[in-house]
Amino acid sequence: MKVTKAVIPAAGLGTRVLPASKAMPKEMLPIVDKPAIQYIVEEAVASGITDILIITSRGKSAVEDHFDRSPELEARLEKSGKTQLLEEIRALSSLANIHYIRQTEAKGLGHAVYCARAFAGNDPIAVLYGDDVVIGGQRPATRELCDAYEQYGKGVVGIKPVPLEELIGRYSCLAVSPLEERVFSVTDMIEKPTREQVLSNYSILGRCVLPPEIFPILETLPTGAGGEYQLTDAMKLLARRDGMIGVEYTGTRYDMGNKLGILQAAIEVGLQHPETGASLRRYLKELAATL
Ligand code: UTP
Repeated sequence: MKVTKAVIPAAGLGTRVLPASKAMPKEMLPIVDKPAIQYIVEEAVASGITDILIITSRGKSAVEDHFDRSPELEARLEKSGKTQLLEEIRALSSLANIHYIRQTEAKGLGHAVYCARAFAGNDPIAVLYGDDVVIGGQRPATRELCDAYEQYGKGVVGIKPVPLEELIGRYSCLAVSPLEERVFSVTDMIEKPTREQVLSNYSILGRCVLPPEIFPILETLPTGAGGEYQLTDAMKLLARRDGMIGVEYTGTRYDMGNKLGILQAAIEVGLQHPETGASLRRYLKELAATL
């Protein structure tokens, strides 16, 4: 079945990037000149998604404003002849059918996705974590996952190997066996494992495609690590019962939910950007010589 709906959870508190995220959603932190969530919406659209539900919360109205029309700004750009910028700004409000729902309390990613049950109905949903930006690659990451969903008819997780020292206690880990290049069968997973619990160094990073069967699981899910409803715990039950597919997507993932990830994204994307690339490269070389 074709995947046309996506959910972007963006209702978290962003405690790892405080104080930047106190009054501004971390999903709105820019990479050079675009907020993180715009890259994510553009990835969804480039992957064939037509309907997007963004899960928001108090203090996140900047996300809604970003994808809305802005008549005053548009009039000013038109008057000053900034046609290209005007087109870019206008395009933002017609990228896809964007819907919003509020998660009234940040009870975890599993709870955030559960808020999408009416939107999903009986359809599969792609889930793009609001602070994980994926850039480049052979095809958009969500497209690579949707292809696997459409081929295998099972839930799909976007995965990458993570160094063990980083993975333990922080990421999820998966029991995987290879099916084809970059595609794996996933039969088990553990969120924030201890060293003894590690199943492999493959972790779920920022993307998944879930069948509607995930919702009855989320409905009765107990809280997990950190006292939150963990999406990984629900996917673990799904993987053990029905099996899931892991796709090692080809793009580069930037974690905009942590300080180092934000800096890496700014530098790497800045080096590729036509306006900043050459001067940033020069600057970094000069700086590196002093380190
Ligand atoms: P994270 O766990 O990275 O976000 O969730 P967080 O809870 O904001 O992070 P810290 O630990 O406090 O820094 C991944 C994505 O899921 C969303 C977040 O907004 C983020 O985009 N999320 C998380 C929700 O929508 N609701 C939640 O209850 C938790």
